[in-house]
Amino acid sequence: MSRTGSHGRRGLAVALRGITKSFPGVLANDHVDLEVRWGEIHALLGENGAGKSTLMSILSGLYQPDEGEILVGDDEGGLRPVTITSPRAAIHLGIGMVHQHFKLVPTQTVAENVILGVEDMPFVLDLDAVARDVAEIADRLRMPVDPTAPIWQLSVGEQQRVEILKALYRGAEILVLDEPTAVLTPQEADEVAAILRSLAAEGKAIVFISHKLDEVVEIADRVTVLRKGRNVATMDVADTDKHRLAELMVGREVATTIPKPPAEPGPTVLALEGVVVRNERGLVALDHVDLEVAAGEILGIAGVAGNGQRELTEVATGLRRPDAGRVVVDGKDLTGASPVAFLDRGVAHVPADRLGRGLAGNLPLADNLAMRAYRHPPIAVGPAIRRDRMRAFAETIIERFRVDAPGPDTPARNLSGGNQQKAILGREITAGSWAAARGHRPVLVAAYPTRGLDVGAIEHVRARLLEQRAAGTAVLLVSEELDELLMMSDRIAVLHGGRIMGVVTPEETTIEELGLMMAGEAHR
Ligand SMILES: Nc1ncnc2c1ncn2[C@@H]1O[C@H](COP(=O)(O)OP(=O)(O)OP(=O)(O)O)[C@@H](O)[C@H]1O
Ligand SMILES: [Mg+2]
Repeated sequence: MSRTGSHGRRGLAVALRGITKSFPGVLANDHVDLEVRWGEIHALLGENGAGKSTLMSILSGLYQPDEGEILVGDDEGGLRPVTITSPRAAIHLGIGMVHQHFKLVPTQTVAENVILGVEDMPFVLDLDAVARDVAEIADRLRMPVDPTAPIWQLSVGEQQRVEILKALYRGAEILVLDEPTAVLTPQEADEVAAILRSLAAEGKAIVFISHKLDEVVEIADRVTVLRKGRNVATMDVADTDKHRLAELMVGREVATTIPKPPAEPGPTVLALEGVVVRNERGLVALDHVDLEVAAGEILGIAGVAGNGQRELTEVATGLRRPDAGRVVVDGKDLTGASPVAFLDRGVAHVPADRLGRGLAGNLPLADNLAMRAYRHPPIAVGPAIRRDRMRAFAETIIERFRVDAPGPDTPARNLSGGNQQKAILGREITAGSWAAARGHRPVLVAAYPTRGLDVGAIEHVRARLLEQRAAGTAVLLVSEELDELLMMSDRIAVLHGGRIMGVVTPEETTIEELGLMMAGEAHR
């Protein structure tokens, strides 16, 4: 399957040879070879911490390799060795990268973000001209964005488009995307896939990192699998399938379903009663929502992102005050109470935005993991904090949740994306047992807990969530993956336009029915 010819470019866009990179205590890339052709979509797969982001950060000039060579291709099939000393140098060579965590400035407009940091910036900046150019590229690729809109007003999907536009505006011919669809709705992910296809058809070389095997099989031409920093396979997607790819990544067979014992729901622990929330733009985000979650139950929330999920999780954890209605935790009215009051009553939260809200990147992993526990014994002894106990506490979470990190003293930002997620999950899930120890019935509000995790880690996290259920935690699980909701939930509530369209059980409902409710049809 070759797409060369139509765009007239031949050969390789880039060749990485023997790339090696270590960080203190970690060999992130171990003599990796990777060749990417003009006009292809090349998927990069691997477990959390396998070295994918590191390899691509080397290609885009963010890191220098310890060993190895990078060669860049011309249109005729020639290759020349290059040294890429900075992201700017990479852009000069036509290499652009969209990072796992976006790097946009929220208060500035789309056009300003696109031009930000561009070299040879004219002294007098013609933002209108930039806006026109941006609109033109956006038009050509059928990805609508308003160049004059400030970033903070955009959805994650729109921000993703801005990141892609920014790279293209700077002349990227080799485009690297690090988990571009991890935070997108399925519809937005389809749009990104279409954009990548049209870029490849123009002859650009696309590398994209993903944990979603369905998506890889659907849109990539070739795929490379990294395991523990090494390239274990590169092949045509046509010659493989999802199961073989999963096995190559993990090095063993992966279970896709996990046994779920019957529910033994106890009393209601979390209740929302007639909750109304207006968002920043004054629009109604939650419209008289009534929900109850019992001890030992997982209540799934289905819906297309942007239909009130964020406001729902914020209200349920005290991060947002409802405009009307009540939030009751274990019989106590906590409406309007502070997030700390919620926490002290045993409400834990796995936020959707893990770096912004979930972790303090500059602090050691141990401090991050102890965030829920350090104010209580045994870590707190009177006003003092026992650091040794804090480290020991962190180590148990690292072990139980298989967080791949050199140790508890590593700054959290040095962890791979998926391992940051595992750390937050570990911290929040164990917060429940602390609450239980103080006599509260724990609640766990988990937004997209398996997003960005590799297939093995997903299996592991789902098992931990079921453990919490068995231990009597009331779990509110927000997810976009219907498979996940059907597998994990005892009941599923569907959100659309800030309203609950209905509550169903996985046994009685179907994907089709859920889809209809997600589109706004009330449950019959
Ligand atoms: N700046 C850094 N300092 C120290 N260690 C790092 C740094 N960046 C990455 N690492 C380590 O290198 C290894 C590879 O990380 P990398 O981010 O490349 O993984 P990944 O394959 O992208 O994983 P994920 O799927 O979780 O995003 C990990 O063990 C990580 O902790
Ligand atoms: Mg990564």
